[in-house]
Amino acid sequence: MMQNFDLFGTENLTDSAPKAPKSVVAKVQALRTQLLQWAHEYYVQDAPSVPDGTYDQALHELQALEQLYPQLITPESPTQRVIGAVLDGLAPVRHAVPMLSIRTETDNTAAGAQAFDARVRRELGLGEGDALVEYVAEPKFDGLAMSLRYENGKLVQAATRGDGEVGEDVTHNIRTIRQIPLQLPPDAPPLLEVRGEVYMRRADFDALNARQLAAGAKLFANPRNAAAGSVRQLDSHIAMQRPLSFFAYGLGSVTPVQEGGPRWSSHFALLQQLKSWGFPVASQACIAQGAQELVAFHERLGQERAQLPYDIDGVVYKVNRLDLQQQLGFVTREPRWAVAHKYPAEEMSTVLLGMDVQVGRTGKLTPVARLEPVGVGGVMVTNATLHNLFEIRKKGVRVGDTVIVRRAGDVIPEVVGRVPGARAGYVPNFRMPRQCPVCGSLVEREKGEANHRCTGGLFCSAQRKEALLHFASRRALDIEGLGDKLVEQLVDGGHIQSLPDLYRLQLPQLAGLERMGEKSALNLLAALQRSKATTLARFIFALGIRHVGEATARDLARHFGSLEAIMAADEEALLQVPDVGPVVAHSIHSFLAQPHNREVLEQLRAAGIHWPDVEVPQASAQPLLGQTVVLTGTLPTLGRDQAKAMLEAAGAKVAGSVSKKTSFVVAGAEAGSKLEKAQTLGVPVLDEAALLELLVAAVGPSSS
Ligand code: IVH
Repeated sequence: MMQNFDLFGTENLTDSAPKAPKSVVAKVQALRTQLLQWAHEYYVQDAPSVPDGTYDQALHELQALEQLYPQLITPESPTQRVIGAVLDGLAPVRHAVPMLSIRTETDNTAAGAQAFDARVRRELGLGEGDALVEYVAEPKFDGLAMSLRYENGKLVQAATRGDGEVGEDVTHNIRTIRQIPLQLPPDAPPLLEVRGEVYMRRADFDALNARQLAAGAKLFANPRNAAAGSVRQLDSHIAMQRPLSFFAYGLGSVTPVQEGGPRWSSHFALLQQLKSWGFPVASQACIAQGAQELVAFHERLGQERAQLPYDIDGVVYKVNRLDLQQQLGFVTREPRWAVAHKYPAEEMSTVLLGMDVQVGRTGKLTPVARLEPVGVGGVMVTNATLHNLFEIRKKGVRVGDTVIVRRAGDVIPEVVGRVPGARAGYVPNFRMPRQCPVCGSLVEREKGEANHRCTGGLFCSAQRKEALLHFASRRALDIEGLGDKLVEQLVDGGHIQSLPDLYRLQLPQLAGLERMGEKSALNLLAALQRSKATTLARFIFALGIRHVGEATARDLARHFGSLEAIMAADEEALLQVPDVGPVVAHSIHSFLAQPHNREVLEQLRAAGIHWPDVEVPQASAQPLLGQTVVLTGTLPTLGRDQAKAMLEAAGAKVAGSVSKKTSFVVAGAEAGSKLEKAQTLGVPVLDEAALLELLVAAVGPSSS
């Protein structure tokens, strides 16, 4: 009979359902074909051609059409089953208990959690006056589902989900994952199937890609692909070199209670038990009462998402009581007691409309993609960085292509690659301009460097603008009120040719600018006046010398003690400064060797910029000299800058990441991966109170 393959379900026509127009039938068919193709690339080939967000969007569209015209639903529709297949090389494994998928709540906002809670309450027959339903909220890990089978306490088989019924035997690779116990404690039941997610931590992923790059091997697009590709290797030696991790979140088959198997009454108790048997369980998993607490969890984890050491694409809510789970049961292949509530996708595809070039402070030319507007990670993106010419070549993107845009956390959106597909006709490859698009100066690329640069220096108005903004920034001379728009007007209007011109600005000149009244003009003049009293370190940093950040500027100030001494230093002398290597020494020396730069320095001093004579600190006043400290989380009273300044005043170096060499970590509220790393490495962790105690003990209480 053809009935099973009745793709458009005309035989199920009911009176109530409106007849589907031909165009809808065609659209449904096109969506199914497309989704099956994408799913095959994703699950079988581990080589997705579109981001998850694009896939989800198409799936939702199909779901919506099927809801409107239920007679079109077939058992084969991608909405009706778990898609996947078995690779030829790996042995098939039939799951004793099918590995199900869960419904995705389409609404990204609070309404998603509320809709789930409302459905659960309705199914359970709960009214308004009844108690809240208790849930467990967990992160939704972005890896691949795994079923681990233990017999008599020994790991005997590990299988991927496959199509939910039949997966692939990947035991040989899973045995290489250190987080997965090979042997369980004696209190574990004779049969136990643990379900969870195999994933790759971001840091491990970056390190893996760096190794791949060095070896000239293929790069992985994201941690999920890297994890999936590693798990499904035929050769376990390869998997062994791929750092994989695991989180447990559920069960498959288990010794029945009547045969002496364990009995849990809640999902949360199950998670605790799994933890006690040695399985990693996400520390964020927690009990939530009712919809409101689910919403709060979704929001909280959303804020932490960017700082987590691994990717998540949403959260999962599960009814906590197992008897209620049983009562709720399943719809087709999805449990009614669980739901995935996603976050805005961090990757989306869109059309590349054009490529421009931007000029930065140091003259670096950055190609920028102009995009058809697309929502990524919760914001509308119209521009994304393409980094440099070589990145464009490597990714092979051309104008008119459909490209993948990624924006994770607060980082600048970037184009990660193109969606394969034919181009309509010939499109020329991108070329870097030979002349600066802003000032017309020659564009150069230093040997061994990926970046092109404008050679115009401060002659280039783009560089002048960026240089001014940097000079005025908070950590440099901190000139309040000197922002983008104003700098633009000052430079474009010819009011400022070089930095010292800032201090020659006059009231009438300023008051005449757009959106600038007399009052703001006076405020700016006052801010300029205040900025003249600074420190040598800030002044050096403010100059925007390539490779000279805040820390180097401070080291230079400390080492030489005066601007004159720095200006007189040759590269040899500069190399004596701690942490200054040949590249930095060369950059400083050649900056200071240029007559026009020396003149700028003289004029700035003549304008009244001054600083106290830098005291060369006494060793005894630097109790933390030689120590490296990392700050993480929010301290109860000290601001981050303040804590940093205090530590540095005591001689410590404040670093951004934790390693074995870190002397100690100062952790505040909501400390994330850095704290975790310190704990794994056994690096001491102090809170604010302990830090203050340490400083007071070392330096003595302040006399003022
Ligand atoms: S529970 C019957 N919990 O999301 C419920 N799944 O479609 C079974 N996933 O591929 C799933 N994190 O691999 C569950 N905390 C979590 C999860 C999770 C990620 C994945 C799972 C599956 C998909 C659900």
